[in-house]
Amino acid sequence: MQDIRFSYSNAVSAEQMQVIQPLVEKAQSVLASGTGKGNDFLGWRTLPADIRTQLDDIQSTADRLRRQCDIIVCIGIGGSYLGAKAVIDALQSSFSALENQRPQIVYAGQNIGEDYLYELQNLLRNRSFGIICISKSGTTTEPALAFRLLKTQLEEQDGKQKACERIVCITDAKKGALRTLATQEGYKTFVIEDNIGGRFSVLSPVGLLPIACAGFDIKALIDGAEKMMDVCGENTPFDQNPAMLYAAARNILYREEGKKVEMLVNFHPKLHYVSEWWKQLYGESEGKEGKGIFPASVDFTTDLHSMGQYIQEGERHLFETVISVLAPNHTVIFPHDEMNLDGLNFLAGKRVDEVNKMAELGTMLAHVDGGVPNLKIEMPCLNEYYLGELIYFFERACGISGYVLDVNPFNQPGVEAYKKNMFALLGKPGYEKETAAIKARLA
Ligand code: PA5
Repeated sequence: MQDIRFSYSNAVSAEQMQVIQPLVEKAQSVLASGTGKGNDFLGWRTLPADIRTQLDDIQSTADRLRRQCDIIVCIGIGGSYLGAKAVIDALQSSFSALENQRPQIVYAGQNIGEDYLYELQNLLRNRSFGIICISKSGTTTEPALAFRLLKTQLEEQDGKQKACERIVCITDAKKGALRTLATQEGYKTFVIEDNIGGRFSVLSPVGLLPIACAGFDIKALIDGAEKMMDVCGENTPFDQNPAMLYAAARNILYREEGKKVEMLVNFHPKLHYVSEWWKQLYGESEGKEGKGIFPASVDFTTDLHSMGQYIQEGERHLFETVISVLAPNHTVIFPHDEMNLDGLNFLAGKRVDEVNKMAELGTMLAHVDGGVPNLKIEMPCLNEYYLGELIYFFERACGISGYVLDVNPFNQPGVEAYKKNMFALLGKPGYEKETAAIKARLA
């Protein structure tokens, strides 16, 4: 079976790659030996192999929730929901919500929108629903707030016993308010291991349980990831290792060409949330110490009609990484029309994807001509196996790239700043000093 492929010839030269190669090899070896910054968070490296013993438990829990529930609410924020949503959205029908599929997966705890929560509560009223609450720390405000609201609603609608059977918590083995609550209430739980950070957790129960609940094949996902664990691992040399080549190319563009912004591009709208997941992975891993490529994303051809002008002719600080899906899963043939009033008969008999592919090629040529280098990732098609490959590829490349940049890719100290201010402004006990300081500043 052909794996996902990475190519860089429209962006950097062979000579540039040769120069950066030793640095990337060193980063890969530091990552492999576990001797670099943040080395207590490297559990994701072998997760595709390690998680296999839990797959049956995850699958049978998902099967139970699928039998019990019309709607399953996944509560979590950042790394605790983006991976699952990325995979589910990439695989499910674009119109699944209107197709009466059961169960529907919906999300909460990823924002604090009062209208969003009101509308969700309305949707769930008198429906049979379940909750998967995911928080590694078990103390994050957004999911904790949503969980209290929805747990209360579930207990009021169905009683405490039934609610207990429909709630699953995924959290730390011992620490945090969610662990305490789950133990006290007797909820089914899965553990997020200490050595796996949120944004590297999609191949753990964090991503796998919701994906299995949506009816997708988690074993195939893990098979693909495990294949990439080998292909991107330390035993594959630089010139054949897609994760090392991607880490190399993006760092060359950043350091030598002044390309401070990387745009992940797709021509497949179902990949929108893969980009959201990728932005979190790279943004939180690399954006620190005044350094890091800014990860952005666009969905083409949609965004060619909004961002296309800037990309073609605006500030030249951009490069693109295009995810190209070689074959769609379905066939639509463009019809012939006798009148040909729209002038499109030159497309008659062609697949819609042929038009999409020419848009993709035409865009690449135009953007490269306009000074926007293009990296490319080719996926044979959109299925669980190749998404598993893509996920591990991006994770491995992120670890390598972070070390090339000389940052700790596995922490996120900057995320705390807004929380401290929010707690102080809300008058959380223990934040009195910060509250006083903010009041003085705003006076
Ligand atoms: O990648 C990360 O570590 C973060 O994005 C977390 O996933 C996010 O902040 C949610 O944290 P928690 O799972 O502790 O609620």
